[in-house]
Amino acid sequence: MTGYILAIDQGTTSTRAILFDDKMKVAGSGQQEFTQHYPASGWVEHDPEDIWTSVVSTVKAALKNAGRTASEVAALGITNQRETVVIWDRVTGKPIHNAIVWQDRRTASLCQKLKRQGLEKKFTRKTGLLLDPYFSGTKIAWVLDKVKGARKRAEKGELLAGTIDSFLIWRLTGGKVHATDATNASRTLVYNIAENAWDDELLTILNIPAKMLPEVKDCADDYGITEKSLFGAEIRILGVAGDQHAATIGQACFEPGMMKSTYGTGCFALLNTGSDLVRSKNRLLTTIAYRLNGKTTYALEGSIFIAGAAVQWLRDGIKVIGKAEQSGKLAAEADPTQNVYLVPAFVGLGAPHWDAEARGAIFGLTRNSGPAEFARAALEAVAYQTRDLLDAMRKDWKGASAKTVLRVDGGMVASDWTMQRLADILDAPVDRPTILETTALGAAWLAGSKAGVWPDAKKFAKSWALERRFQPDMDGSVRVAKLAGWRDAVRRTLSVS
Ligand code: G3P
Repeated sequence: MTGYILAIDQGTTSTRAILFDDKMKVAGSGQQEFTQHYPASGWVEHDPEDIWTSVVSTVKAALKNAGRTASEVAALGITNQRETVVIWDRVTGKPIHNAIVWQDRRTASLCQKLKRQGLEKKFTRKTGLLLDPYFSGTKIAWVLDKVKGARKRAEKGELLAGTIDSFLIWRLTGGKVHATDATNASRTLVYNIAENAWDDELLTILNIPAKMLPEVKDCADDYGITEKSLFGAEIRILGVAGDQHAATIGQACFEPGMMKSTYGTGCFALLNTGSDLVRSKNRLLTTIAYRLNGKTTYALEGSIFIAGAAVQWLRDGIKVIGKAEQSGKLAAEADPTQNVYLVPAFVGLGAPHWDAEARGAIFGLTRNSGPAEFARAALEAVAYQTRDLLDAMRKDWKGASAKTVLRVDGGMVASDWTMQRLADILDAPVDRPTILETTALGAAWLAGSKAGVWPDAKKFAKSWALERRFQPDMDGSVRVAKLAGWRDAVRRTLSVS
């Protein structure tokens, strides 16, 4: 058997497939963007057929790009945008509604209602999450409520529900396997992370029939075999993890106290807390970092909804840059005497505020403020928000010491200016690895190690290599003043103070 490992990274705005060789190096890749649908204010949907088509074509492109065939692939790993849900017909495999995306806020009023009923504590105790429209449970409930006859059909076992990984596994295996992994399950609001099981009480509260839900497996596990007709040969699916969890693995954050932050559409920081299920007192999430060989490793997570999306806004919204890569250079030209703050609450604010109704705001404009100050404010907002998460983590868990180093990945980390500013605002070192495909690498490691062709966790961790460390280099008083300005801007942006 040859040792090629394929990773599918099904993200929020694009799908990527990457073929790794037996030295864990990229041999070929394919990428495809797909349409975002915004049917109403605060609503975000994907057409699951677009997602499916993009998966099939990017896998084919990756194989072709590497000059390899499916028969040379030892195993496949899947990683995916989390929380986004699809509900489909068990017989035809056809979705009954567009996928409702993690960013979608349509269930804000349902979350409010549940909060008024005093149920948030119960949800948090069992799932580690909060009552926010971000998570899957209320989205599934919404589809069952709104699509005519859906709940009845679900009760009869005619419909299946799942996050994107489950939908892809179902399609890839020709409808033979309905499964998910523990990390994706831990984002649904109906999975008990202490017991590692779907929670009947929460399912009843949300009126979701348990029989719709997938079997929950370890991250490295047997998820079936792809249909031969798809890629020309069968491929074993041996790894699955939500994208942020896969990035945690790809960054080799296997030890308690290690932390990574991925700067994609949003920013998600995960701190490995080992076997400790740490209950946050500072509005962070408790989540399953990964589950391997039946052993659960937990993490504290800080979720920021807008990071790279703020750079997209600079490019496509206010059009002050032509390409995302120009943002750092423009920010470096900003007038240091101006204190312009952008609070990018475009879809509300995530951790630690969880304000679904807040909307973006900009403060401190003068007649001299221009594109450079906007760019700097957008990039600095990412650093300030990460700092808020790190502060909350340190308050929550003693393992997050002042010595914490942040391992970073995602599109934004290519910008040296942004990474230096991040280290300055965090007052902590920021490590950028040589391999930036950490999400795909994590999914590939799950599949490759399960297939026995990639090394175990210890050896894999040793192969992690630093490209550059950014050390904090900002005067303490400047940092304190900047942070005070940021906190004031956030306070003025919150919908309820
Ligand atoms: O929780 C949402 C997250 O998984 C989305 O990640 O990389 O698609 O923005 P990304």
